[in-house]
Amino acid sequence: MKTAIYPGSFDPITLGHIDVIGRAAGIFDKLLVSVLVNPRKSPLLGLDERIATIREAVDEGLPAVAAHVEVEGFDGLTVDYARRASAQFIVRGLRAISDFETEMQMAHTNRKLYPEVDTVFFMTALEHAYLSSSLVKEIAQFGGDVSKMVPAAAARRLSR
Ligand code: PNS
Repeated sequence: MKTAIYPGSFDPITLGHIDVIGRAAGIFDKLLVSVLVNPRKSPLLGLDERIATIREAVDEGLPAVAAHVEVEGFDGLTVDYARRASAQFIVRGLRAISDFETEMQMAHTNRKLYPEVDTVFFMTALEHAYLSSSLVKEIAQFGGDVSKMVPAAAARRLSR
């Protein structure tokens, strides 16, 4: 069975993430969307809220693949989590060249730490390539409209 994790902060999940989840879930038998508990960041949405938002967004937006997408939190190293989850692949999205350097460094480092895992990149769909969680967060915090940038489940939570 081919299992992949898709780790990230998802604070909040964007339509770019949903695009990557939908395409990755079509390839792997099981896709774990893995929400990082990062003690160095103070997230806008708490861990439970992020998990619930992703679950709703996947169920509503990706019904055809939702059954083999799981959503859970993790802390510590991504590779340790991948090992515990028996995952052979790490999924990441690439929006632009600017993402490439950091992502390449992470992929090589993760492979050095845990050679059994490979990182698989998806080019984020062009219409979502400009989206970033931090911009969405800033817009939402100032009361701006993010409904074209995030799935409805996230827009509902951010407007509260
Ligand atoms: O959504 P993000 O913030 O771009 O995701 C970054 C993430 C969670 C993939 C990265 O920070 C990570 O893997 N953190 C866990 C700690 C870790 O394993 N660090 C070493 C990475 S080489």
